[in-house]
Amino acid sequence: MFNIARKVCVITGGAGLIGSAFCRACAENGAKVVIIDTNPKTGKNLAGRLVRDTKNKNILFQQCDITKPASVKRAIKNILKKFRRIDALVNCAYPRNKNYGRKFEDVTYEDFCDNLSTHLGGYFLMTKEVSRTMKEQKGGSIVLMGSIYGIAAPKFEIYEGTHMTMPVEYAAIKGGIVNLARYLASYLGPHGIRVNAISPGGVFDNQPESFVKRYVGKVKLAPRRMAKQEDVAGALLFLLSDASAYITGQNIVVDGGWTI
Ligand SMILES: NC(=O)c1ccc[n+]([C@@H]2O[C@H](COP(=O)([O-])OP(=O)(O)OC[C@H]3O[C@@H](n4cnc5c(N)ncnc54)[C@H](O)[C@@H]3O)[C@@H](O)[C@H]2O)c1
Repeated sequence: MFNIARKVCVITGGAGLIGSAFCRACAENGAKVVIIDTNPKTGKNLAGRLVRDTKNKNILFQQCDITKPASVKRAIKNILKKFRRIDALVNCAYPRNKNYGRKFEDVTYEDFCDNLSTHLGGYFLMTKEVSRTMKEQKGGSIVLMGSIYGIAAPKFEIYEGTHMTMPVEYAAIKGGIVNLARYLASYLGPHGIRVNAISPGGVFDNQPESFVKRYVGKVKLAPRRMAKQEDVAGALLFLLSDASAYITGQNIVVDGGWTI
């Protein structure tokens, strides 16, 4: 039921913090993995490491910018040439411009629109193009990365005394992604295509100690800690496998109870 062996899994942002854990989990479970990323150096390095560590030779790095229609089309063509089909698409890229991360008052209209169109728009574009192939195959599983901030308001006090904030664009993007998953599940369901979102809490990535302490104080599950990439990968494997064959349009929140 939980088997994903030989399924062709395309993971955008595959070279990133969460994406690389997704690629590893899929590779370890015998899937054919396509790492999609704009960064060829980290992408190719990861592909090499995964082949070495997992003895799975079916790992492909495909450079692609999910915000560029021609790049997306080229990538899909190459994937189909190599693996003939696409069973799963995981939208895990994190496009953001150089001004991303500013406080609400400092976000310009242009930056707001730019970050929304690349992140939310990029997920739309990638999903639209891959769904053509899945329609022909009469099935597939699509996952979109949401966030706790797509379903809950930020607790700004946890960022006090750090350079961090929760950007206003992120709330709009992630709220949009969670509902985009529902829309797509309804629209693509008749073609046997399942679409779900995963909404992780904050993943530990050497954030400032004061932030981690305040963040962790709101986690309900013992031992209280921030998320690890592997926590999120567990939900992904479930959604890519036939164990979730009757699940679509859902948002799996992986946050140790932070939002409850
Ligand atoms: N890290 C967290 O704590 C956290 C929590 C909740 C949700 N998320 C979500 O998980 C997803 C991944 O986050 P992450 O922390 O792994 O990010 P990350 O920055 O570590 O990785 C993102 C990857 O996307 C790639 N990328 C950026 N723009 C791209 C584009 N236009 N086309 C293709 N690839 C592109 C980058 O090169 C990078 O390798 C995002 O959707 C993020 O919002 C992350």
